Amino acid sequence: MPSISLTRHLIEEQRLGHVTPDLRLLLEVVARACKRISVAVGKGALGDVLGEAGGDEASINVQGEAQKKLDVISNEILLEANAWGGHLAACASEEMEHSQQIPDAFPRGNYLLVFDPLDGSSNIDINASVGTIFSVLRCPEGVTAAEDHHFLQPGSSQVAAGYCLYGPSTMLVLTIGHGTHAFTLDREQGSFVLTKAHMRIPEQTREFAINMSNQRHWEAPTQAYVDDLLAGKDGARGKDFNMRWVAAMVGDVHRILTRGGIFIYPWDRKDPSKPGKLRLMYEANPMAMLVEQAGGAATTGRERILDIAPTSLHQRVPVFLGSKDEVDTATRYHLQHDSAAA
Ligand code: AHG
Ligand code: MN
Ligand code: MN
Repeated sequence: MPSISLTRHLIEEQRLGHVTPDLRLLLEVVARACKRISVAVGKGALGDVLGEAGGDEASINVQGEAQKKLDVISNEILLEANAWGGHLAACASEEMEHSQQIPDAFPRGNYLLVFDPLDGSSNIDINASVGTIFSVLRCPEGVTAAEDHHFLQPGSSQVAAGYCLYGPSTMLVLTIGHGTHAFTLDREQGSFVLTKAHMRIPEQTREFAINMSNQRHWEAPTQAYVDDLLAGKDGARGKDFNMRWVAAMVGDVHRILTRGGIFIYPWDRKDPSKPGKLRLMYEANPMAMLVEQAGGAATTGRERILDIAPTSLHQRVPVFLGSKDEVDTATRYHLQHDSAAA
């Protein structure tokens, strides 16, 4: 069987009417940028890529988080690649307070791209997995100058979503609304090769992922749900659960797409002004689309993530995603708690 490259896969999807020529080419540009990020990440201590950005004066992004050099490098690679692509109206990123329009001098298109250029960046300095997460939306009709509010569309409007995982191998996982497919970078050939078409997340699981160190800050239904997981065979769930935490959402979601599980970053009381840690537009929404397209589910613990009407570019949300039955169970704990309290 000849191998199927990302390019061939997308051309076939175009023939089936699943993707426009412009979106296909935009995804090729994103994939090319991810290859460059993969090279930068892979240099490790041999390149000038590790550590904090900004030297002595640590640079802080719009989230109030310290930027790593690779956060900045990855952001620039994505911006530069897309400026010349000709398929975008504007870009937005975790690392930029506002969206950036494609400048007048460059060719412009009808899509909006939003990304987390480097997810899990605290893993960089320990040589563990990191990734890039991206989401593509349509620019509303008639808009000639795209601004932040044009990005504020529910996740169900995404026309494509994906991530690139920089692990022992580099993998691109993509959906255009017709299944979730995984491609592995062939480093010799320089192309992404389809290695798993139509990924399916098992509906049931015995594995969960949550940062347990925040346990005391969680709300009651999250506490109750995780208590029952920990009680194992002797508790209400009647089975033992294992736990994994990569500290990079891309890594945890990739494991879940591969063998099932539930990933949770709940609301907590650590900073009550923040409704969760993860960002809706470039973490929760693209991952929710990938997971749903693989037969899984994604909620805030109460509502479907893809139904949320965003109110700001860097909005945070609680995230429960993965194996469908498990996400439904976790969501039920929260909804039952709410109706008992009402
Ligand atoms: P980023 O590096 O883009 O800021 O994202 C990090 C996120 C996510 O990838 C991961 O699941 C989570 O933060 C890890 O949080 P803890 O530090 O609480 O483990
Ligand atoms: Mn992230
Ligand atoms: Mn990031």
